[in-house]
Amino acid sequence: MAKKIAVLTSGGDAPGMNACIRACIRSGLAEGKDMYVVYDGFRGLVEGDIAQVNKDFTQDIINRGGTIIRSARLPEFKEDEVVEKAAQQLADFEIDALIGIGGDGTFKGLGALAKHGVEVVGIPGTIDNDVGSTDETIGFATALNTICECVDKLKDTSGSHQRCSLIEVMGRHCGDLAMFAALAEGAEGVICVEHPLHEDVLFRKLRKMKAQNKSHAIIIVSENLLDINELAKKIEANTGFDTRTEVLGRLQRGGSPVAHDRILAARMADKAVTLITKNEVGNGKIVGVKSSEIVAYDIEEALKMKHEHAHGLRDLIDKLQ
Ligand code: F6P
Repeated sequence: MAKKIAVLTSGGDAPGMNACIRACIRSGLAEGKDMYVVYDGFRGLVEGDIAQVNKDFTQDIINRGGTIIRSARLPEFKEDEVVEKAAQQLADFEIDALIGIGGDGTFKGLGALAKHGVEVVGIPGTIDNDVGSTDETIGFATALNTICECVDKLKDTSGSHQRCSLIEVMGRHCGDLAMFAALAEGAEGVICVEHPLHEDVLFRKLRKMKAQNKSHAIIIVSENLLDINELAKKIEANTGFDTRTEVLGRLQRGGSPVAHDRILAARMADKAVTLITKNEVGNGKIVGVKSSEIVAYDIEEALKMKHEHAHGLRDLIDKLQ
């Protein structure tokens, strides 16, 4: 009997999730496996919202943003009886292995399922790039591009009005989107965990720019750190720069994935399917990319790995400002 593999997406959606679903299904079918999808993440798994799919299901989705099997957050998935119910659904459908695409929250859920005897593999898909066991997550490159497109536009109007723009980007508690965007945009400032705000330094710099009659100032701010409207008021009071705020929000999660994310999705998906077909999953694996190589770690080990990518950019960003 062919091995049955199911795929789900969980947590915040990310561009490239559809490309990853496509690659998992096609890679599995090419290996002679029966492929299934779970709708609505772990919630759908608990409810048994599971369907067998064929190649047609994956037609024309490689370039689509979002996730066609939808995503959800299910805090209750920490409870043992909820996990047990999910494991039972997989057993009822006679599914042998589950691939979960998402971030650390998703991997914790997979880890809990592994303890109930389910064969699980995680693939990192989140715009935040906050997963320690990989250099890059699916969706990060696209979200970064989206931020840069927005900042380019804001620079135009900021320059016309000689304004300071405070632009809040996502990342949850990780500064990668902010730091990489600041570097890519040559921003005058960046505020995030890896590059904390020093008001005096920022105000001094903006005052100097104002005195030099610079046309605009772009400051990228990571979410969940401070109230950008309050900071805008302080900047106006301390520097004389007319200041506006923009929260890019979930715009950053949408849109067609860039080629880089589609390729990353294909490589990671194929690795996940290969681990399953070669019976190398053990107590659960998380796939990642390290120094351009596709790798896999045991879940417990992966969840302990620390993410420190953006720290290394700090000096370069400051040097080029
Ligand atoms: O994890 C992705 C992400 O977009 C974070 O950057 C953000 O903090 C969070 O999800 C927002 O989640 P939601 O859309 O559920 O409010």
